[in-house]
Amino acid sequence: MRIEAIPNFAVKFYSLIARKVPCIIDIHQQVAQEISAKISTGKMLDAGTGPGYLPFAIAKRVPGVEIVGIDLSSGMVDVANKKSEKLGLANRVTFKTANVGNLPFENESFDMVISSLSLHHWAKPVEYIKEIHRVLKKGGQAYIYDIWKDTPKEIEEQVRRRYGWFLGFIFLTVVRSHSSMTFKEAQDILSALPVNFAEKSIHNIGAVLKLQLVK
Ligand SMILES: C[S@@+](CC[C@H](N)C(=O)[O-])C[C@H]1O[C@@H](n2cnc3c(N)ncnc32)[C@H](O)[C@@H]1O
Repeated sequence: MRIEAIPNFAVKFYSLIARKVPCIIDIHQQVAQEISAKISTGKMLDAGTGPGYLPFAIAKRVPGVEIVGIDLSSGMVDVANKKSEKLGLANRVTFKTANVGNLPFENESFDMVISSLSLHHWAKPVEYIKEIHRVLKKGGQAYIYDIWKDTPKEIEEQVRRRYGWFLGFIFLTVVRSHSSMTFKEAQDILSALPVNFAEKSIHNIGAVLKLQLVK
């Protein structure tokens, strides 16, 4: 059975992992770097934001952007809003409890939609991406990142070299086998989309897959 929301009792644990574990920190920093090169102003949605570390990393790099993070878990949203106050970002980085499949926003409200490490939780990814399409402005982009389950051997090697044997093992066995997506699963999602994106492609940043969509 797929568990969508991270339950409230596990929120502190996930927050600690996202704040302390180098391979998760690196994913957020690499994604933030990529996104900050794409957008300098406008409104962004982070779908399945968790404790909000990706929006914080982006907001620190891009002062002109306003970010709303949503998550099914109210515990995650509380942690993220408190952290945003603490960082002095609450005027432009806010969080709401909501389902990606039923977003509480008007059509075409966002210049960009992002999501990291959440797609593998989604019960109905095709329908949820249709909802993302609804809230994206025309010409807007959606970047959806998740850990790549069937990573080629050379990327596994890079992970081991970068993080060492122990952390590499945890990432490649525990994290990758439970919290990830195969290339084929990502392709199947994109092929089944019932809405028209001007561009749909799949890329990778090391052991992370990126579904790139342009409306
Ligand atoms: C592994 S965490 C990743 C959190 C964060 N994006 C990160 O990169 O650290 C996945 C998050 O997606 C959220 N989530 C799962 N399904 C969701 C849905 N349908 N709508 C909103 N959030 C969802 C979970 O509650 C959880 O907080």
